[in-house]
Amino acid sequence: MNQSITFDDYYQNRVTLSFEDHPFSSEPKHVWVICKFHTQWLLTQHPRRGLEFPGGKVEDGETPEMAAIREVDEETGAKVLDIHYIGQYKVEGKNGTIVKNVYFATISDIRLKMDYLETEGPYFIENIPQHIKKLSHYSFMMRDDVLTYCLKRIKKLYLSS
Ligand code: GTP
Repeated sequence: MNQSITFDDYYQNRVTLSFEDHPFSSEPKHVWVICKFHTQWLLTQHPRRGLEFPGGKVEDGETPEMAAIREVDEETGAKVLDIHYIGQYKVEGKNGTIVKNVYFATISDIRLKMDYLETEGPYFIENIPQHIKKLSHYSFMMRDDVLTYCLKRIKKLYLSS
């Protein structure tokens, strides 16, 4: 049975999230990586969208997992120690549908870089704010139910002690 969750995002686009193995596409073009560095969450500061977990597009010749590791490095300088597939979601927008894999990564170390390409580099937080949907300095990607459900799953699978 393919169990999925459907809701509207910040822009009223329809989002469908599933924790099955690649339910919407075997070759997703986008990745998003929820990163943990010791006790802290590792985000990046996007110049327009605000604070968000790193991510981006899968390039030609890459697997989605390779893209996830590369994007974390490019946007934060962080080296991925472990990476786990969490789920996949699709966003049905006015200009088409995108499919994105979500990963959970633990970080071994972070190296200072001269250039973070599309972002302004790493940003650490101890806790993800409870009312994040109301906080305009967070990216729209952080302000829908994808984050809520994925965090719940990550805590259950990887962070329960
Ligand atoms: P670039 O400028 O090349 O980065 O592409 P783009 O701005 O057209 O965006 P992209 O192809 O990454 O995504 C297209 C649209 O999908 C965006 O404008 C968003 O509305 C939506 N989208 C992309 N990623 C997410 C996401 O993680 N969550 C949600 N809810 N919507 C997303």
